[in-house]
Amino acid sequence: MNIILLGPPGAGKGTQAARLVNERGMAQLSTGDMLRAARDAGTPMGLKVSAIMKAGELVSDEIVDGLIGDKLDSMPVAQGAIFDGYPRTAAQAVSLDDLLAARARKLDAVIELAVDEDALVDRITGRYTCAKCGAGYHDRYKLPKVSDVCDVCGSTEFSRRPDDNAETVRTRMAEYRAKTAPILPIYEARGLLRKIDGMADIGIVSAAIEAILGPIPAKN
Ligand code: AP5
Repeated sequence: MNIILLGPPGAGKGTQAARLVNERGMAQLSTGDMLRAARDAGTPMGLKVSAIMKAGELVSDEIVDGLIGDKLDSMPVAQGAIFDGYPRTAAQAVSLDDLLAARARKLDAVIELAVDEDALVDRITGRYTCAKCGAGYHDRYKLPKVSDVCDVCGSTEFSRRPDDNAETVRTRMAEYRAKTAPILPIYEARGLLRKIDGMADIGIVSAAIEAILGPIPAKN
């Protein structure tokens, strides 16, 4: 199964993708995570995209198409893929079709997390992650069970993304409206789009996604 999670910054794409990885053994293909890894590793590509990401603008289609192609090549064909933050432009949507077809894969569903943009600034500026294992938290919606200790690995080191400030979030939203939202009608016309309420509690959003994906296939 190959699915896209589509929605503006802070809609909950990464949160839901992480759960699908755990529950269904699918692979999360997050272009944002791949770009941040390249930036943090100081690769030539990472250095090139660092300022663009910090400003909240989109990096080139060519770069992200290449990252997705490489990741798909590294996966078993039978493993499902969750595209998180990709595609983000009409050109990337065309590239994804080509990348999937070339690997005997097909797109099964595009799940739109519909959200109130005003609430997203609060979600994003309150977000932080464990510096050691990457587990995600939020100042108000998802605190660790023990204050300042990661639930997953016990680390006490946390970090925030440099593009998670109110000013950059506004640019990221504008990029979404101008370049990514126009993809939605394309998928709707193909009968692939499923819209769910991304403002509901995390568990309710998860249940809505499960209802779309159906039962987990039994292992042979
Ligand atoms: P990327 O990393 O993709 O960021 P984004 O799309 O802005 O999305 P986010 O990761 O901010 O949000 P999310 O929807 O995953 O929300 P989350 O689950 O964390 O991209 C970063 C940058 O990289 C871009 O600006 C661009 O420069 C570049 N880039 C990446 N891909 C690109 C591409 N394809 N082409 C060109 N450039 C690209 O949730 C947010 C918070 O809310 C969390 O704290 C979470 O706990 C909380 N939360 C989640 N769901 C709920 C809920 N239902 N109720 C309450 N709180 C919730």
